[in-house]
Amino acid sequence: MENKKIILSGIQPSGSATLGSYLGALKNWASLSSEFECLYMVVDMHAITTRQVPAELRKLQLEQLAQFVACGIDPDENTLFIQSHVPAHAQLAWVLNCFTMFGELSRMTQFKDKSSKNAENINAGLFTYPALQAADILLYGTDLVPVGADQKQHVELTRDIAVRFNGVFGDVFKIPEPYIPKVGAKIMDLQTPTKKMSKSEVADGGCVLIMDKPEDIMRSFKRAKTDSETEVRFDQENKPGISNLIQIYSCCTGKSFEEIENEFAGKGYGEFKPCVGEAVVELLRPIREETERLLADKAYMQEVYRKGAEKASYTANKTLRKVYKKLGFIEK
Ligand code: TRP
Repeated sequence: MENKKIILSGIQPSGSATLGSYLGALKNWASLSSEFECLYMVVDMHAITTRQVPAELRKLQLEQLAQFVACGIDPDENTLFIQSHVPAHAQLAWVLNCFTMFGELSRMTQFKDKSSKNAENINAGLFTYPALQAADILLYGTDLVPVGADQKQHVELTRDIAVRFNGVFGDVFKIPEPYIPKVGAKIMDLQTPTKKMSKSEVADGGCVLIMDKPEDIMRSFKRAKTDSETEVRFDQENKPGISNLIQIYSCCTGKSFEEIENEFAGKGYGEFKPCVGEAVVELLRPIREETERLLADKAYMQEVYRKGAEKASYTANKTLRKVYKKLGFIEK
């Protein structure tokens, strides 16, 4: 294998990908393949830690996979796969469960967060979610894990688990690091601009999905929460709403904040908001259309995930065999 560093990340198919996930993650992932060996997966096994509707889950997985490709992540240069297609993830997760402490899992903010939101379904899978994520990462000798700030804690726990395992059994796992890309933008909710844009808040128009229709995107931007002033000026602290729109417009057009402030000097929010909406519509249009085109080609989609699973399984099974041997399991 080439001597490139290994990058791995995953996206939950628990909802459609957002403008935030495109600008903050997917867009950058496409550019990493020249420098790194990249694996990206759709984490269906993580998704079922909260209740999913099977038909919907099936649809969202394929949509996410198609979106990887539509965002420019070439399936020949990258390994794109579905987590449950590589059983080694579940197998290593069990082992790592036995090297992860109850206290550690109890301290995970995502667990605390999700259990307060799903008080009626605080299941064991939700609790041990980070051990499965650690398995995802450690199976491939991953060097870098591109994630948002909210996932840093899980990558740190992965490191602790790996160090603990290596401490007992020798050098089995590579110790990964979180990778927060320099250019990654953090896009905020359009209705609550102090909160990250999230697919779980679709209902109030604060969240824009990659697959949204142009008229819905326009409506969301026209209704975006701003402040009581009129000046288009970047000021994260005092004007979080307008600053978020400036950031989004900048990502779409490549213009600097200053250029944008000059462009809209004296024009007010009423003119600015629809311009941002239009820029987003045009940014997402080719991705949405390409995603739809790919989804219609079932044979191609199948070829992508089958080839991806085959490539991933090779490395994953090698790691799993090594782990089993270290543990004292008998090879069959
Ligand atoms: N937990 C991640 C999230 O919610 C998704 C994920 C699962 C992941 N496995 C991963 C991210 C491995 C990075 C690496 O966003």
